[in-house]
Amino acid sequence: MKPLQIAMLGAGNRGRDAYGSYALQHPHEIDVVAVAETGPERRQLFADEHNIPRVRCFESAEQLLQQPRMCDAVFICTGDRDHFATAMGAIENGYHVFLEKPMAVDPAQCLAIAEAAEAAGVTLVIAHVLRYAPLFQHIHRLLERGAIGRLVTMQHNENVGYYHFAHSYVRGNWRREDQSSPILLAKSCHDMDLLYWFAGAPCEAVSSFGSLIHFKAQNAPPGHTERCLDGCPHFHTCPFSVERVYLSREYRWPATVITPDPSPEARIRALRSGMYGRCVYACDNDVADNQVVSLQFSNGVTASFTLCGFTHDISRTLKLMGTEGEIRAHLERNEIELHSFREDSVHAIVPGNSTGAHGGGDWGIMRSFVTALRCGDGSRVVSARESAEGHLIALAADEARQLGEVVSMPQFLKQFGAAT
Ligand SMILES: NC(=O)c1ccc[n+]([C@@H]2O[C@H](COP(=O)([O-])OP(=O)(O)OC[C@H]3O[C@@H](n4cnc5c(N)ncnc54)[C@H](O)[C@@H]3O)[C@@H](O)[C@H]2O)c1
Repeated sequence: MKPLQIAMLGAGNRGRDAYGSYALQHPHEIDVVAVAETGPERRQLFADEHNIPRVRCFESAEQLLQQPRMCDAVFICTGDRDHFATAMGAIENGYHVFLEKPMAVDPAQCLAIAEAAEAAGVTLVIAHVLRYAPLFQHIHRLLERGAIGRLVTMQHNENVGYYHFAHSYVRGNWRREDQSSPILLAKSCHDMDLLYWFAGAPCEAVSSFGSLIHFKAQNAPPGHTERCLDGCPHFHTCPFSVERVYLSREYRWPATVITPDPSPEARIRALRSGMYGRCVYACDNDVADNQVVSLQFSNGVTASFTLCGFTHDISRTLKLMGTEGEIRAHLERNEIELHSFREDSVHAIVPGNSTGAHGGGDWGIMRSFVTALRCGDGSRVVSARESAEGHLIALAADEARQLGEVVSMPQFLKQFGAAT
């Protein structure tokens, strides 16, 4: 069977490191035949890695989409606010689409993408990679076979990690709502998707609290400088200093984001001039650094979710409580504990292969997307309409936080002419 031919739109961290690297390691499954990337250095690097000829290298996604269709599918891995227009353009051109989350930053646009893909008869998959991680798939199977009786409630923690938070949500691309989206959508639409999937019923109502507590000017230590490398007296002691986040660690994410050149000189150059060199107390960030959400599903299941920037590890930890047992899980350790009340027992489970980031979800979704298209089996992937639900829950929860009210999902959806 011929490999799936794709074009990569946006060859940054996700396009190059997550999906491009899968393609390089699975050439019999997937062949990247074109790239659109605004950064000349990244574009060239990606083209060299995938042997893409110059005529198939484009300066922007828009430019690539103006050409006649050149392959089976496009991967949209550009910034959050470009996703809607790019996805609609790709659908119009007849491409199958792999679209990074969030699919769009506004509820009506999320629904419009799902509708357009259905009308055009193309497969459009949202990169809700967690659904494809062996650990979460195993938990879903346990729930389906009633391993903990009837599911009653769930507790889910998204532990962002203090240096990840400083990199992405204080200094980086997702620091401002007007340039990306509320953090709950940007970071946790796939966590809302998981809770919805596990609950097995539509979400009825949400409430939420949270704010930007720490990363603001009034919390700066005395004598700090605007950039860490400008002789800041806290350079070696501040947990968020560029030394700790980008220089003293080996060259891997997040240092790969600041420069494709691994040398210390290149990193220092990038930090002297670029946005990642700023003091975390002197940035223009406004997204919340902590947020809690309560969810009520239509079958009576409830859930609580906590997103927090002040954690040591980058991890997701869950507890699902049922009438006959309990599931405890840790994504990054790839561990599940199944407690049975009937047997008064605890079973430790190590789910399948978790190679690739997000507990194996990045590679899991790639495998499913490629197989769905090569075998014409759409059941291998989650539909865009189903994936829109997690986005709508995140957006409704953020509205609840801003209003300080419980938001009814049916009322929220009515504003956009959508049914529950
Ligand atoms: N699924 C997940 O778990 C997950 C994780 C992290 C990020 N994301 C999402 O993936 C997307 C990409 O994130 P990233 O971390 O790779 O960001 P990034 O900044 O590393 O990469 C984005 C790339 O797109 C390029 N670009 C921007 N506009 C373009 C355009 N019009 N045409 C062509 N190229 C363009 C940029 O130059 C950059 O190289 C974001 O929407 C982000 O929210 C998803």
